Amino acid sequence: MADQYAQNPVGDEPPPLPALRWSEPPEGPVLVLLDQTRLPAEEVELVCTDVPALVQAIQTLAVRGAPLLGIAGAYGVALAAARGYDVEEAAPLLEGARPTAVNLAYGVRRAVAAYRAAADKGPEEAAQAALTAARELHREDAEASAQMAGHGLALLDELLPGGGHRILTHCNTGALVSGGEGTAFAVALHAHRAGELRRLWVDETRPLLQGARLTAYEAARNGMPYTLLTDSAAGSLFAAGEVDAVLIGADRIAADGSVANKVGSYPLAVLAKYHHVPFIVVAPTTTVDLSTPDGASIEVEQRAGHEVTEVTAPQVPAAAGAVGGGLPVAPLGTQAYNPAFDVTPPDLVTAIVTELGALSPVTGGGIAELCARSRQV
Ligand code: MRU
Repeated sequence: MADQYAQNPVGDEPPPLPALRWSEPPEGPVLVLLDQTRLPAEEVELVCTDVPALVQAIQTLAVRGAPLLGIAGAYGVALAAARGYDVEEAAPLLEGARPTAVNLAYGVRRAVAAYRAAADKGPEEAAQAALTAARELHREDAEASAQMAGHGLALLDELLPGGGHRILTHCNTGALVSGGEGTAFAVALHAHRAGELRRLWVDETRPLLQGARLTAYEAARNGMPYTLLTDSAAGSLFAAGEVDAVLIGADRIAADGSVANKVGSYPLAVLAKYHHVPFIVVAPTTTVDLSTPDGASIEVEQRAGHEVTEVTAPQVPAAAGAVGGGLPVAPLGTQAYNPAFDVTPPDLVTAIVTELGALSPVTGGGIAELCARSRQV
């Protein structure tokens, strides 16, 4: 019988996909983003010349995903400093643009610390120090991404000897969220390059379709064997025995090992437990927040209801009466519950893979030890 998951050939590597870049045209420094709201229809750049523009880009998800938010936040501080804005005023605006991904605050604070440390040398030196900090974070994130890909594949091979992995993923965790090739997606890509990925199952990830729009786009450009499914089809996919492992990223990992990630992650963890399938979280140690003691303490971003009641995409014309400028899929005036994230308790997580290796089982002690090691490195 023909293998219904026949492996796509591993093709030529596509060109890199820089989700953001710093640029210094004669008119002054700018942060250039690949506008993720326009993907996959078009690859359009969004040029941020000031902090309010960057804050808006963060809030509309033109730039998104935890590690990339940290990098963007750090460059945002550098942008404010280079353009002569008040860094102390800009920093809280950037940090508060979205509440859940702790990387955003981490990136902003790291660049601000560098700026302050150089402040007595004058504004130009201080601005340069902030930029250097942003570039360092950008580079470190790319390195962490490559390390996570290696550790993640080693873990998969240990848990699932024999290769031919069928991996289910949620949201988008590839080059569009990282200085490198991402977190969970980077592991799947590594498996693909090693000839070990049989199928990447891609949850569409309602309501903003990061899976359909972004992960499918990244999988396609890398020639990976992938299949898109509605979020609600995941249960029957598990029941049919078609999922070997779940790989997701994280927006914040609390001190007890609770994991906040894109809404819909927790139901996958419950399904994975029931079906005895490993549920693996892949995230750099910059996503761990020891000052958040547990899952209940994680602030979950609540987003506008129109993201649920309307379909918004560059190709969809605005309909009369639509609050979000999209096409209504529910009666006008419908209330919607729209948390952007959910929290998975540590006992549902098989392992957390960071740049330092895999932590399993996931315990508060293990998280503390991991952070102690990462801060020594
Ligand atoms: O709302 P988004 O698109 O920023 O959410 C992104 C996610 O939930 C990702 O899974 C998470 O940031 C991990 S990416 C490494």
